[in-house]
Amino acid sequence: MAKESPKEIFLKDYKLPDYYFDTVNLDFILKEEHTLVHSKIHVISRQGTLSPLRLDGVDVKLLSIRINSKDVKEGEDYSLSSKHLILHHPPAAQFVLEITTEIEPQNNTALEGLYKTTGNFCTQCEAEGFRRITFYQDRPDVMAKFTTRIEADKSLYPVLLSNGNLIEQADLPDDRHYAVWEDPFKKPCYLFALVAGQLVSRDDEFVTCSGRKVALHIWTPAQDISKTAHAMYSLKAAMKWDEEVFGREYDLDLFNIVAVPDFNMGAMENKSLNIFNSRLVLASPETATDADYAAVLGVIGHEYFHNWTGNRVTCRDWFQLSLKEGLTVFRDQEFSSDMGSRAVKRIADVLRLRISQFPQDAGPMAHPVRPHSYIKMDNFYTVTVYEKGAEVVRMYQTLLGKKGFRKGMDLYFERHDGQAVTCDDFYAAMRDANNANLANFKLWYSQAGTPVLTVSTSYDAAARTFRLKCRQEIPPTPGQPTKEPMLIPLALGLVSPKGKDLAVTSVHDGESLKFLKDEHGNGVTTVVLRVEKAEQEFVFADIPERPVPSLLRNFSAPVRLVSDISDEDLLFLLAHDSDEFSRWEAAQTMGRKLILSLVSSVQQGKELVMNKHFVNGLRSILCDSSLDKEFVAKALTLPTEAEIMDLMEVADPDAVHTARRFAVKEIASSLRKELFDAVTNNCSNEAYVFNHENMARRALKNVSLGYLASLNELEATGLALNEYNTATNMTEQIAALAAIAQNSGDLRTETLSKFYEQWQKDSLVTNKWLALQAMSDIPGNVKNVEALMDHPSFDIKNPNKVYSLVGGFCASAVNFHAKDGSGYNFLGDIVLKLDELNPQVASRMVSAFSKWRKFDPHRQALAKEQLERIAKTDGISDNVYEIATKSLA
Ligand code: PHE
Ligand code: ZN
Repeated sequence: MAKESPKEIFLKDYKLPDYYFDTVNLDFILKEEHTLVHSKIHVISRQGTLSPLRLDGVDVKLLSIRINSKDVKEGEDYSLSSKHLILHHPPAAQFVLEITTEIEPQNNTALEGLYKTTGNFCTQCEAEGFRRITFYQDRPDVMAKFTTRIEADKSLYPVLLSNGNLIEQADLPDDRHYAVWEDPFKKPCYLFALVAGQLVSRDDEFVTCSGRKVALHIWTPAQDISKTAHAMYSLKAAMKWDEEVFGREYDLDLFNIVAVPDFNMGAMENKSLNIFNSRLVLASPETATDADYAAVLGVIGHEYFHNWTGNRVTCRDWFQLSLKEGLTVFRDQEFSSDMGSRAVKRIADVLRLRISQFPQDAGPMAHPVRPHSYIKMDNFYTVTVYEKGAEVVRMYQTLLGKKGFRKGMDLYFERHDGQAVTCDDFYAAMRDANNANLANFKLWYSQAGTPVLTVSTSYDAAARTFRLKCRQEIPPTPGQPTKEPMLIPLALGLVSPKGKDLAVTSVHDGESLKFLKDEHGNGVTTVVLRVEKAEQEFVFADIPERPVPSLLRNFSAPVRLVSDISDEDLLFLLAHDSDEFSRWEAAQTMGRKLILSLVSSVQQGKELVMNKHFVNGLRSILCDSSLDKEFVAKALTLPTEAEIMDLMEVADPDAVHTARRFAVKEIASSLRKELFDAVTNNCSNEAYVFNHENMARRALKNVSLGYLASLNELEATGLALNEYNTATNMTEQIAALAAIAQNSGDLRTETLSKFYEQWQKDSLVTNKWLALQAMSDIPGNVKNVEALMDHPSFDIKNPNKVYSLVGGFCASAVNFHAKDGSGYNFLGDIVLKLDELNPQVASRMVSAFSKWRKFDPHRQALAKEQLERIAKTDGISDNVYEIATKSLA
């Protein structure tokens, strides 16, 4: 069989399929030694012509193929290669195609297609996994009605699930049984799912807005079922929220969620049968942190929301991935905001964008929200497609207002329900529903790179005008040397010297005077400027005193803001801005400036000096009891090392680490008393509750404890140990452990082993234990990580374990980037080993190398050596090949 080599696929080459599939009948015979898959497809030529029909198929053994019940011959009628089956001359404009394949799910370590996880069968088909089950046109614009029959051993696999409704079920001889599922909705094959195994369910019911009852089931192995209460709560909340906020009702009488321990990604939105990585379903106060609880809520919401944004309206091709993912991330972010604190959620989302997406947009893997090409689609499930994509959706809302945005969504569903569409269709719905002028907004989909928005301001007391000069520049990215200016919504407020927002009634945008009114006819306190040109000036008239501008409120666009704002004004905004996000951002901006200047002192061997005003600003925040405690916790947290390195011309991990560590300790010793108070005043013996108030209390306490422990002194360590010993929930236990583990020594070793002893039977908790050690900045930590690879709690076949240990290690600036190359060497070895088992996981890990050009020549050479070694290894996957070669290009 001819082997096909990696091939780049381009958006510009998109063609409609020549054939559609109308109905698909699948029959699975699940056995221990292999699985037989019989498929019967009703094929229809799109235009009546009879061109060859090309089916995708990877690692599947063809047993038989029939057309209209007749056998066909290899060579004459069809041919096979390593990735395709081609029917040379289909007989008629409509025909029935029957194919039988044999697969080996028990040997599938890639975890795509049909595979086994702790004894159970499950599937993962997005993006292109269905072709590992049977030959098919594995592309999202081929939508069919699926009926699925599953046959298996009854005692080993008592539960048999697929999409849609259960229509038949019976026993068979030899302790076997079968079930037939029918999905009434047409769907692309990437939404197909099958689960067979020993599972129990938590059952509940949701009554929809039109009064229909929907049966809800969350399936897990028996020992985990008690940990699904929060997931069920989250699901019901999501169903209600989508009705209330977007008018979207669930469309079947049944909704299933299955939790599996071995899963490459977070979760998957298969029609009515969502499959989840167990880490995003299972939660109990003792084993899951507040962050885990929040993640479960968000991801349960996310997958549920896909039913409308993804399933009912799906993508025409994979280049349009952000159509469903950017939109659904936006929806889950809004859901979580409504369920908790909006400002805190916004801060967390912006941080994620800055820590992960900005660096991606500035590196060799930079790609637009709608990529132009790919070798492996799996490599494009990125923070750019997801998180930047969500920012693009958010910008529509910022420009059109909440009501206008909803009108656009309604029109989108009205026009495209049941279709496979593009980002252009979404754009058109937003524009048409609002008669809006969104001129160069569409460029956000096609231009990669984070725009740099430079703003300078001036106040003219005599003329009473406030002037704002904006310049936008989009840096070059691979394949895109020059860019066009885009429409950037710049939300801003003008804060009076008394700390109150001024009501602005008009603005001149360089072309004309625009009047501004809120719904009561008054001036507005947050103006959304449309920055459309490379350079543009805005003038506000009638401004009585010099205001402090609060720029990019709520992070109204995913840009790097550069402004001439002084430290004094930043401190003023930190204390007074009415926009909570901007208050936090003021502290972050100061923090970034401070650490960058400390970094240059470290590099020049100068004495490190702390900015006292900044520390005092933080003190007032910490002591202001009127503030939300989680906000305080966020405001106290300094920008991460990753953010600082991203801002440097040449990233210097050691200097960044030294500088940030210095700042942490300075803050801890200056605010020692206040931090102690924050810990003691925020303890509680009450049972764990997942609500904002309690989470906020724990967050503030834990951040304070982390600061104090950095001092490595008796009293602080004692406090951390006491917190560890008395903790009754994982949020507080792991935070205390992390605090203690900052400093090497016996206490660290003892507490880590005590923790392991307590939790060794809980795989999700031991992942936290692995990650905490892997991320450590303790010098020479690569040795510990290597040793942990052989620890019983590690398993290279389980993606969560790899993400915790290997991924955790790559997140440690000092150890991963160790000057002796030990970190790079370690990762190089692991990537090659992983690639033989699971290319998707290997490829995610190899991405840690992709920022190699940001470092000094010595480190560059070491990282490049590993990338070259990987790229020239025989037989590496297309996944790893793509990332390695693009990183080297
Ligand atoms: N579509 C999934 C989501 O909700 C992500 C995913 C992609 C899962 C590919 C598995 C495989 O975002
Ligand atoms: Zn998604």
